[in-house]
Amino acid sequence: MDKNFYITTPIYYPSAKPHMGHAYSSIIADFFARFKKIDDYEVHFLTGTDEHGLKIQRSAEQQGQDPQKFCDKISQTFRDLSKKLNLSNTDFIRTTEERHKNTVQYLWKELEKNDDIYLSNYSGWYSVSDEAFYNEDEIEEVDGKKMAINSKSPVEWIEEESYFFRLSKWEKPLLNHYESNPNFISPDSRKNEVISFVKNGLKDLSVSRKTFTWGIPVPNNKDHVIYVWLDALTNYLSALNYPNTNDELYNKFWPASVHLIGKDILRFHAIYWPAFLLAAKIELPKKVYGHGWILSGDEKMSKSKGNILDPLEIIKEYGLDPLRYYLIKEVSFGNDGNISQDRLEDCINGDLANNYGNYCQRVTAFAIKNCDGKIPNKIEFQKDDLQILDKYKNNLDNIRLKIDDQNLNFYIDFIVKSLFEANKYFNDQEPWKKKDDPLRLNTIVYTSLEIIRKISYLLYPIIPNSSLKALKIFSLSESDIKLKSIINNESLSKGSNINKIEILFKKIEKKND
Ligand code: MSP
Repeated sequence: MDKNFYITTPIYYPSAKPHMGHAYSSIIADFFARFKKIDDYEVHFLTGTDEHGLKIQRSAEQQGQDPQKFCDKISQTFRDLSKKLNLSNTDFIRTTEERHKNTVQYLWKELEKNDDIYLSNYSGWYSVSDEAFYNEDEIEEVDGKKMAINSKSPVEWIEEESYFFRLSKWEKPLLNHYESNPNFISPDSRKNEVISFVKNGLKDLSVSRKTFTWGIPVPNNKDHVIYVWLDALTNYLSALNYPNTNDELYNKFWPASVHLIGKDILRFHAIYWPAFLLAAKIELPKKVYGHGWILSGDEKMSKSKGNILDPLEIIKEYGLDPLRYYLIKEVSFGNDGNISQDRLEDCINGDLANNYGNYCQRVTAFAIKNCDGKIPNKIEFQKDDLQILDKYKNNLDNIRLKIDDQNLNFYIDFIVKSLFEANKYFNDQEPWKKKDDPLRLNTIVYTSLEIIRKISYLLYPIIPNSSLKALKIFSLSESDIKLKSIINNESLSKGSNINKIEILFKKIEKKND
């Protein structure tokens, strides 16, 4: 079985500082990367910044800065954010790096060699904000201004000499690929959008620009720079040292397991990218998953709309793990989601402080006091104990399947239910009334401690720091976390010390309480 897993985030435009939407994509990708890691996969997790194109050139000009210096500065804020979000990424790519430029120019030459690129003239609508070309039927006029209907961003008319990619030639092969690989585009609702777009007919795609210079030059024609999306998408390959196909990274990790993206950039990933790859005779990624948007009010959060929530401010106020937990739980994965401080506070108080934090606290305090501070030695499971412990074993394969299906909702529901049942078990068993039956008391304590371990393993991909804090109870560290060991009901080493646990989550006094 293939035990390598390659996941990517979109590479972000360093046109302004990062916002919650960017943090969302990255946190979700980190969840999958960490899950696969503890399930014994070798994981390559790529994120980075997309630095060329007119959008970036204009943003730099507005600030009177050289584009490279401008990108250096803002790309660093994305790198800093990846640290702040505790991402486990194994690489961070910038499209202004040499390794990337070489790959893009190589790919261009391959496309040209295969007669998939030709020189002609482009005239049509272009949105600098989306870096996208639009057909007439994708444009509307609002207050005398032409806008792209989907993204609501302004478009401008451009007419210039341009190289074209023969996208039309790949219409049928793409449709065949979608049909024979039903999981290639997920979720299903997005797949249908893409298929109907392709079925409506694909026009050849303009893949170079001549009227600005901030980009990778077209090989053998320095008057043109390569279209920023052809440049950007190639990052997924350049990070694996393509075209060096003997390279270890390329061999292990291509084709990518999943490109995780927002639904706004599905067309580029589910149509253009596979078409470029087909044309260059490179294997296609296994899956493109388009998640929904984080909304602010009813609108997509974005710089141009001025409705941005700053992840750093939220982290400063509430901490990182609460934000990670909240985004993974409350935004139903695949759909759009509104986020609110009120709901975030409810999550912290309910799920995290009461159900998880308090359970860990109560069980360890009781165990330290009543079992000499040591994991009980002699135990004898009864039906009630095995019923709650075996649930993990019985669900492990299903959890894996659901995660391969990106069904985060199932995963988080399983955890929330498990926490509820754990608290109920401890309450119902009333170990404080079993002081004259040490075997029973010890067994209840052992069972409750095992549950802390199992749930903390499952929580690790969501809230890594807090999970690791909880696992210190058993002196377990990151490298000990193995998903497969949640099936083991007697993994805690009997007789070893139980360590005190620090408070995991502080309850928030709600302003409107
Ligand atoms: N540079 C391109 C992507 C190139 S990938 C080869 C780009 N960059 S971006 O900075 O605009 O970021 C896009 C991604 O950020 C979206 O696809 C999405 O994953 C995430 N988000 C940006 N705003 C978002 C929300 N409001 N909500 C959720 N995610 C969104 O497009």
